[in-house]
Amino acid sequence: MNINHSKTETKRTRVILMSDIHYCNEWYGITPEIKREMLCADLEREYEEDPYQALLLLGDYSLDHWAWNTKGTYLTHGISNAKRFVEHCLPRMAPSGVEVRMIAGNHEQYGEALWQKLTGFNRKDHLVCGSVLFILLDTFGGDLDPVEHSDGTYIGANMADLRVLMARYPDKKVILCAHWFDMQKETDEFRSFIAQEPRILCLFCGHNHISKVVSTGEEYGNKPIIYTGHYSYSGDMNPVHCLNGYREVLIMEDGITSKYIVPSHTYTMEAVKFTTEYAEQDDVEIKF
Ligand SMILES: [Fe+2]
Repeated sequence: MNINHSKTETKRTRVILMSDIHYCNEWYGITPEIKREMLCADLEREYEEDPYQALLLLGDYSLDHWAWNTKGTYLTHGISNAKRFVEHCLPRMAPSGVEVRMIAGNHEQYGEALWQKLTGFNRKDHLVCGSVLFILLDTFGGDLDPVEHSDGTYIGANMADLRVLMARYPDKKVILCAHWFDMQKETDEFRSFIAQEPRILCLFCGHNHISKVVSTGEEYGNKPIIYTGHYSYSGDMNPVHCLNGYREVLIMEDGITSKYIVPSHTYTMEAVKFTTEYAEQDDVEIKF
């Protein structure tokens, strides 16, 4: 299905990207129960103020598979918090008419059949929004349906998937998304493809729980890689530099913009309780 919405006099499409929601543990005084209400209220308000046409979820809704401490909940207790996230949160996050894609993270090592059964989504996917084709890759798709606890096996971008989808939509600009892009582990074929394919605008991923915009470097044609932050715990040395939030992508006629949106929330860190103001950070503009 293609999305091509317009708003007021300017034709634009609004997409929300999120990752690393980890609807399973307490961080900063926010239990899963509190998070559920916070997250749903944030997205409901966001939709009410400026409706989005698509919600792209880039993995780690849980610690269903996890190598450490209490280990992953799925192998240990048969509990899938990714499934619970779909049931508890998604209906309010994505009102009727919003296209949703939900790919797996490294803490969701389910094979395709089980992922579909638990969540109703595909491990890898794509979506056309206006003039942009989003390709959602399954870069942590190794050693699926494990019987041992681990943090996932990185296999990188599937070039065949990329080429097939880009050929299917020859008139669309392209944004690559994944739970994670490990730029050092990717292939030379991927590097030169990114560098040489002018339709590829940028890459989006989560996994490091940080919001920032950086260049992929010369071998990738210096295209931006944009990190999608988190809605759980910060990957920044100073956690207040990246609090719970999500990324907006606006697709206009002549390019895209993206910013990290940080709603106002109350946190407890090291016994200090504080409330943050609404903020926007780490914005970027890419012209077609
Ligand atoms: Fe994560």
